[in-house]
Amino acid sequence: MAVTKHNYHKIHDEVRETYQNHTRAEFHRLTKQHNLKSYLEFYTTMHYLRKYLPKGGTILDAGSGPGRYSLELARMGYHVVALDAAENSIRFLEQRARRLGLSDKVQKTVIGRIEDLSIFDDNQFDAVLCLGGPLSHIMEKRLRQNAARELLRVAKTGAPVFVSVMSLLATVKGFLKLFQNEVTAPYVKSFMEDGDYVWPHLYGFTHFHGFKPEELSATFAGRHFKQLALVSLEGYGSYETEDLKRLHRNKRRWNAWLRLHVAVSAEPSIVGASEHMLLIGRKT
Ligand SMILES: C[S@@+](CC[C@H](N)C(=O)[O-])C[C@H]1O[C@@H](n2cnc3c(N)ncnc32)[C@H](O)[C@@H]1O
Repeated sequence: MAVTKHNYHKIHDEVRETYQNHTRAEFHRLTKQHNLKSYLEFYTTMHYLRKYLPKGGTILDAGSGPGRYSLELARMGYHVVALDAAENSIRFLEQRARRLGLSDKVQKTVIGRIEDLSIFDDNQFDAVLCLGGPLSHIMEKRLRQNAARELLRVAKTGAPVFVSVMSLLATVKGFLKLFQNEVTAPYVKSFMEDGDYVWPHLYGFTHFHGFKPEELSATFAGRHFKQLALVSLEGYGSYETEDLKRLHRNKRRWNAWLRLHVAVSAEPSIVGASEHMLLIGRKT
């Protein structure tokens, strides 16, 4: 099914509904206990956040979900403003912040969409995050570009901006490792051509746009953005849940492999093949 203006709102509602109904699972998604492959996404993202974030200040977590990153950054001493389309995720985040004694750090929570950040001023934030694919869930190119403009607008000049999205090419590995029964399905051809995956396939995963690395860079390219890095988050660990489990049993090997994984994470040949990729830039 092509994504048209007529079904865009329906698609957006379905995406939001999915996250409304899976708040707790989303919160636990990035933990070691849940899945080491998703933990790699978190581990690698945190590595780059530590590398590029300023020492302090106020961070916008746009598409925060239930707040895995917001709460971690609040715990590290940052002030955080969290925004998400799914109300349940925002309520969950508020509850967790209270329980962890972090409510003073989570300054504001907003139910809203990254395509329209008009409740925020220009140049308001010391850093802007849009992590784990909120941009991928916007199924229209024009609106993805609006979101990119908005994420940059609200960042202070010189502030880092971090955006991670789902990859198109990694799905080819997904068809090998997980979804072999779907590789002959009619939707695969158009998905590989335009990157628009429309629910319900892939074991029920909701609608998303799969990016190629050059497309993600192009979405932000312009006079207000200097790209600093484009990196893979799961890298060679993409869809390798079982091998990661085996490796994790030996802590020395696991830690050595994690170092290798991060060391090669910016290699262009790995970035596009990773389930998620992270673009890091600075507002100019
Ligand atoms: C996979 S979750 C990522 C959550 C969190 N950033 C993380 O990395 O764990 C994607 C989130 O994007 C949100 N989302 C999807 N489309 C959005 C939009 N247009 N504006 C704001 N949030 C959106 C969903 O509600 C969901 O919470």
